[in-house]
Amino acid sequence: MTSLWLDGHTPVERPELPGPDTAVDVAVIGAGITGLVTAILLARAGKRVLVVEARNPGAVTTGNTTGKVSLLQGTRLSSIESRQGTESVHQYLEGNREGQAWVAHYCAEHEIPVQREDAVTYAQTAAGERSARSEFDVCRTVGLDVIWDEALNPPFPARAGVRLGDQMQFDPMPFLDALIAELEQRGGRLLTGRRVRTVQTSDGQVHLHLARRAESDEPVVSAAQCVLATGAPILDRGGYFARLKPQRSYCTAFTVPTPPPREMFLSTDSPSRSLRYAPTADGERLIVGGNGHVVGRGSERHAVEDLVAWTQRYFPGAQLTHEWSAQDYEPIHELPFVGPLLPRNESLFIATGFAKWGMTNGVAAALLLAKHLLGGEQAPWAPAFSSWTPRERSGWAEAIKTNAEVAVHLAAGWVTPTLRPSGALSEGQGVVSGLPWNMTGRTIVDGVEHCVSPVCTHLGGIVEWNDEEKTWDCPLHGSRFTADGSVLEGPATRDLSHR
Ligand SMILES: Cc1cc2nc3c(=O)[nH]c(=O)nc-3n(C[C@H](O)[C@H](O)[C@H](O)COP(=O)(O)OP(=O)(O)OC[C@H]3O[C@@H](n4cnc5c(N)ncnc54)[C@H](O)[C@@H]3O)c2cc1C
Ligand code: FES
Repeated sequence: MTSLWLDGHTPVERPELPGPDTAVDVAVIGAGITGLVTAILLARAGKRVLVVEARNPGAVTTGNTTGKVSLLQGTRLSSIESRQGTESVHQYLEGNREGQAWVAHYCAEHEIPVQREDAVTYAQTAAGERSARSEFDVCRTVGLDVIWDEALNPPFPARAGVRLGDQMQFDPMPFLDALIAELEQRGGRLLTGRRVRTVQTSDGQVHLHLARRAESDEPVVSAAQCVLATGAPILDRGGYFARLKPQRSYCTAFTVPTPPPREMFLSTDSPSRSLRYAPTADGERLIVGGNGHVVGRGSERHAVEDLVAWTQRYFPGAQLTHEWSAQDYEPIHELPFVGPLLPRNESLFIATGFAKWGMTNGVAAALLLAKHLLGGEQAPWAPAFSSWTPRERSGWAEAIKTNAEVAVHLAAGWVTPTLRPSGALSEGQGVVSGLPWNMTGRTIVDGVEHCVSPVCTHLGGIVEWNDEEKTWDCPLHGSRFTADGSVLEGPATRDLSHR
């Protein structure tokens, strides 16, 4: 499953460390939009920066996004308002406005194509219309110049919705490429294909222990400060895994006989649908996304088949060209977590909880982190992005519910496999079976049988087989592994062991 953006894009590979024991001012872990913008801002200020990336830049969420750079974000603002009040919405919106403006300016300076289009939050049902109305009211309260549109008239069911003009969409990969070029031109370094296994602090320094290559020592990077721009934080300190919900969702791209709608649509209600068009070298594509669910807790194949069937119903003649999926992290209190990993800690920083709006929030986070690390005065909108805030109390009920669900999945994961027969498998199937002390995850992919321990190396959840992407996905906090057990993403940093 390769995204429209990654298909045909040449991955940036920088496999060599600057030296055997590398020391820098700031180590940034993760080369998505958040890590790379943070690194640029620090390099511009003269800091020695190293970005360490486990895979390739953009390989995880940024290269698999829908690529809308919008201030109208579905029902985001009304969700924040209902939990946190209007002042938080103002601050969140200001942060996103600055993030959006930064992206717009950078793209203009570097001649990166963007399309300026309207964003529309639309309703399919009466209940959805009430949600859209609430969003409209909150948008107006905080000064967003939205209109209520009852004549949307797209080729799919849409009763009415909120419209905001002059928003942006883009292909995120040229943007990441330009960021990397600027980083290196300013003396910053990028290391790819090296996963950070552990992070320790001692003697006022942060030490990153990286996955070793065959027959080499485990390299160590030392830094005065470290930013975890890894999506889910890879350190458990701070308990972010219990303060975030990992949401996986799906995208599909199609050729269509007539030009796709110009608007960036997002539904308020089920089935969740996100649409936009994308220019490509051989004509426009229609992108249709949606059908999100908590990682490891749904049928991935059904999610994609449903998107394809829906699109072919409302866009007759649509031909599927790409399908892909990705995950992002929803915070329990509706606001992103950006800042020190632990209160008053000035060594380790995080940026997460963008709830599928990281094209603006990731940049806002980078602006805040850079200011913090460079000792500048914080932006007035910073409180809405704090990693430690009393505002989080409003999310405790959600946290209890989320973690109760985690506990249920943890228990079910250990019990259910004992009841499953370990029969013959067919191509693409995967199953976890066996008694708790001898549980095995077995699958056959491309004719090769893989047997792994299904015990997630993060905190012991039992992984589930993802029937669409052919991966082992953990239903607790969203770690994912290849069929043969290598870590792909999430808070885990170690592979599943082989059986
Ligand atoms: C389906 C989908 C559609 C979306 N659409 C939109 C949209 O239209 N508009 C919008 O604003 N947002 C959208 N989002 C959200 C947005 O894509 C994300 O919020 C954003 O890309 C997050 O960027 P990031 O840099 O924080 O994380 P990532 O892009 O995931 O980057 C994190 C990087 O850290 C690396 N990493 C992780 N662990 C380690 C380790 N141990 N060692 C070294 N490296 C490590 C990973 O390999 C990865 O490359 C969407 C999200 C999804 C899931
Ligand atoms: S991701 Fe936390 S236990 Fe698997």
